[in-house]
Amino acid sequence: MNNFTFCSPTKFVFGRGVTDHVGEELAAAGHTRALIVYGQGSVVRTGTLARVIASLDAAGVSHVELGGVRPNPEIGLVREGVALARAEQVDVILPVGGGSAMDCAKAIAIGACYDGDPWDFWAKKATVSRCLPVAAVVTIPASGSEASNSCVISNDEVGLKCGCNSELIRPALAFLDPELTFTLPPYQTAAGVTDMIAHIMERFFSGETAVHATDNLACGLIRAAIDAAEVVMADPKNYDARAELMWIGTLAHNGIAGCGLGIPGKRDGDWTCHGLEHELSALDPAITHGAGLAVIFPAWMRHVWTSHPERFLTFGAEVFGIEPVDPDVDDLSDIDEEVTPERAVHDAVEATIDALQEFFISIGMPETLGELGVTEKDIDQLLAGLKVNRGESFGTFAALTLEDARTIYESAL
Ligand code: NZQ
Ligand code: ZN
Repeated sequence: MNNFTFCSPTKFVFGRGVTDHVGEELAAAGHTRALIVYGQGSVVRTGTLARVIASLDAAGVSHVELGGVRPNPEIGLVREGVALARAEQVDVILPVGGGSAMDCAKAIAIGACYDGDPWDFWAKKATVSRCLPVAAVVTIPASGSEASNSCVISNDEVGLKCGCNSELIRPALAFLDPELTFTLPPYQTAAGVTDMIAHIMERFFSGETAVHATDNLACGLIRAAIDAAEVVMADPKNYDARAELMWIGTLAHNGIAGCGLGIPGKRDGDWTCHGLEHELSALDPAITHGAGLAVIFPAWMRHVWTSHPERFLTFGAEVFGIEPVDPDVDDLSDIDEEVTPERAVHDAVEATIDALQEFFISIGMPETLGELGVTEKDIDQLLAGLKVNRGESFGTFAALTLEDARTIYESAL
C-alpha cells in the first residue's frame, strides 16, 4: 500500500428535502451573499432553483444569478461570472446543477481571487493559491465535482478541454437531494453512472499492486452502482436506488476509492481514459462525458490488460463473478484440457471487459465512436489536443504513447 493523503473537507447534507435548507446552512457558515450558477434551464423547469432561492431568502442570504452554463462548460461564461462575483461582492459561489455548473462555479471561485485571465489556470500559467468557497446543490450524480479537487473547462477558441486540480477547490458544502434526480433523462442517468464507475476504475487500474481495503470498497461501489442503475432505468422515481447512485457518485471521486493505489505526489490513478475522453468533448461539446467514457474505457482495457492481468482477474471476479484463473495454476483438471493457463486468463479478461461493455450498452450508452459522430478523420485533431494536455507519453497502468492512443481510438470507431 503506497503512502497517501486523503482529505475530504466537504460537509455533505444528504437526503429528502435538503434543497430547502441551503439558505440556513449557508447562513450558519457565515455567508451573506451568494452567486447562484446554473445550467440551461432544467433547474428552472423542475422548480429546484425557486426552492433554493426561497431558502436563501428565508435565511437572509442575498443572491445574484448566472444561468446558461452549457454541458462541457466554456471559459467565456467563467469570465462573465468572475466579473459578476467581483462587482456584486459575493462571498460564496452556489452552483445548482451537475458537473458543468459546479465546474463553472469552481472556475469563477478561483478566477475571482486572481488578477489575470482565468484561463491561465487551465493553460498551466497559474496555480491556485486562493479561492472563494463553493457550496454545491447537486442535480445529477456523475462528475463527483461536489467533492473533487478537479475542475474541467473548455476553451472553444483554442479547441481545448483541460483540467485544473487543487485541494483548495473542493467544495465546502454539498447538498445531495436524491429526489432532484427523478427528472433526469435516461441518457443522462446512464452517462452519470458510467462516469462514476469510470472514476473508480481509473484508480483501481492505477498499475499499483492490490490494496484489499480499497479494492473491496471500489468493487463494492461498482456492484452497487450497477444494481442501482438497473433499478432506476426501469423505475426512475425509485428513491432508494437514486439515493444509492447519488452517494456512490460522490464516493467515486472524493479520493476514498483510491487510497494506497496512487503514486505519492502524482495522480491518484491512471486517468488515461479521462484524457482520451476529454478530447472527444473538446472536439464536439455535444458529446456527453459519460457516453464518451463508455466507448473509450473498454477500448483502453483491451489495449492494456496484459500489463497487469491480475488486476483484471480481481476486477472480473469481484464485480461480475467471473472466476479468476491463476496463471500459475498447476491443476487444470477443472479446465478444458485444451485450455492453457494463458488462454484461461485471456478468456477471463475478455469476458470481464465484455461484461462491462455490455452493461454500458444495456443502460443506453454507445458502443462505438461512430455513434458519437466521431470518424477516422477526427483522430489527428484528438491526438493534437491530447499532446497538449498529456504530452507524448502518459499512463501509469501502462505507459502509452500518442501512437497507442491512435490505436485505441481506431479500435473504438
Ligand atoms: O443544463 P441543464 O438544463 O441544467 O441540463 C443538464 C444537462 O443538459 C441536465 N440535468 C442535470 N440535472 C438534471 C438535468 N436534467 C433534468 N433533471 C435534472 N435533475 O443534464 C445535462 C448534463 O449536465 P452536466 O452538468 O453537464 O452533467 P455532468 O454532471 O455529467 O457534468 C459533466 C461535466 O463535468 C466534467 C465533465 O468533463 C463535463 O464537463 N467532469 C468534472 C469532474 C470534476 N470536476 O471532478 C470530473 C469528471 O470526470 C468530469 O470530467
Ligand atoms: Zn469523469
